[in-house]
Amino acid sequence: MRRSVITATGSYLPKRILTNDELSQMVDTTDEWIVARSGIKQRHIAADGELTSDLATHAAKAALEMAGLKADDIDLIVLATATPDETFPATATVVQKNLGMTGGFAFDIQAVCTGFLYALATADNFVKSGQANRALVIGAETFSRILDWEDRTTCVLFADGAGAIVLEAEDGAGTSDDRGILTSHLHSDGDKHDLLYVDGGPSSTQTTGYLRMEGREVFRHAVNNLASVVHEALDATGLTTDDIDWLVPHQANKRIIDGTGRKLKLDPEKVVLTVDKHGNTSAASVPLALDEAVRDGRVKRGDLLLLEAMGGGFTWGSALVRW
Ligand code: UT7
Repeated sequence: MRRSVITATGSYLPKRILTNDELSQMVDTTDEWIVARSGIKQRHIAADGELTSDLATHAAKAALEMAGLKADDIDLIVLATATPDETFPATATVVQKNLGMTGGFAFDIQAVCTGFLYALATADNFVKSGQANRALVIGAETFSRILDWEDRTTCVLFADGAGAIVLEAEDGAGTSDDRGILTSHLHSDGDKHDLLYVDGGPSSTQTTGYLRMEGREVFRHAVNNLASVVHEALDATGLTTDDIDWLVPHQANKRIIDGTGRKLKLDPEKVVLTVDKHGNTSAASVPLALDEAVRDGRVKRGDLLLLEAMGGGFTWGSALVRW
């Protein structure tokens, strides 16, 4: 059976760090409130003129370097973003050009904070079907550009960043001992649109719009949806929570991550947590967290990783990956 194996990771955070104390001079908030409610201590903000494609290109180059591959070894780029450079063409095609990739195909995926899980599942299917051999899967965002910087309920939470992985085709036995993506599960519920959305767009207002969120409601749904989609992945493979070596969750809020971990009865030591350093970077957050845990040596060959995310739409999803 053809499997898609993650052979490398990369990430990039813009240089400018915005601290909670700086934010408290911009809106009516405090470092204590932000840390207590979200676990976020700082976030990174893209420089003027620094685009989502630039962040994505840095992360992709780091992943290619780790894999020991050249851009032309890649035949597919799937880029998850809710903050594309332009309405069209796809930001993935800008990254394709930036990398100097002369063949293959590239497109964007829009599932907001679940974008990376959607992109991973999509690329996995292309690789498994034989339509691609090596894929770059990227999550990249410049959420600072769609924040209402006067709305303290949202501007303290979201920020900018990018993460990438290389997926390569490998033969597996078709069992849960195989390396690679063992299973992935995606969901959406369009009925929850009004709880998390951007109030603009090319077809509706001809403006970019700003992020609007009913935080408490999103929170309530998040813990339940995430725990259920994690169980779905385990059930599909006959594995249990005891088999999980690392939970690599969407980095939205430490309380959501802690709540999901508790529901799954997971040892907190097995949860990769990076939200304190970069806030909620939407589609970039899962590969950012993964890259940190891979580069610092926590994730080892043969480990079982559970990736999960939840975001606007609503959308949510999970993937079980054998490293
Ligand atoms: O990627 C998925 C996308 N989003 C999420 O995952 C976010 C999910 N939601 C959350 O993370 C949390 O709901 C928040 C962090 C957004 C908020 O935490 P909360 O414990 O649900 O707070 P709350 O919304 O119930 O607000 C509590 C109080 C309110 O004041 P009153 O009404 O009790 O007087 C807010 O006005 O905190 C106030 N508040 C703030 N205070 C200081 C809201 N934002 C701030 C702020 N600083 N930045």
